[in-house]
Amino acid sequence: MTKSIYLIGFMGSGKTTIGKKISRELQLDFADMDEVIEKRLNKSIPMIFKDKGEAYFRIQETVVLKQLKVPIIATGGGIIERSENRIFMKENGIIIYLRTSFTEIQNRLKDDNERPLWVNGDSKKLYKKRIPLYENIADFTIDTEKYRKEEIIKKIKGII
Ligand code: S3P
Repeated sequence: MTKSIYLIGFMGSGKTTIGKKISRELQLDFADMDEVIEKRLNKSIPMIFKDKGEAYFRIQETVVLKQLKVPIIATGGGIIERSENRIFMKENGIIIYLRTSFTEIQNRLKDDNERPLWVNGDSKKLYKKRIPLYENIADFTIDTEKYRKEEIIKKIKGII
């Protein structure tokens, strides 16, 4: 496989969970971009945002995106913010959008403290802004509320 699978979608859409499961089942390497960034900087995502700000995080995100060469990649929810990232993913991979409604995300992230833009920002506005970006760039879209995890994984296996 020369292309990577990029899992995209809003915070809480299940990119990491689904990515890990597929990689285990298919024995393919997996990377979670946030984890890679945290390891590199030796800091948690909230601390990176607090100490260095979002703009700095976005730069690191792009650097990691361009360096990662593994078959399954869980991106951060904001990967589609920069056109540079969108172009790179389009050229280098297959993009799978895990679509999830805002209500469901609110449900899943109600106790979450690890996502600065969820905790501090206007998350509804962010969601609305990003939806068309996810939709326009996706090669495949899977509705995460319609299917169980196993079914989502089966669908992705079918794509790969
Ligand atoms: C972000 C999403 C997070 C993480 C950071 C910024 C975003 O990743 O990259 O907090 O801008 O939506 P998840 O989508 O894995 O929560």
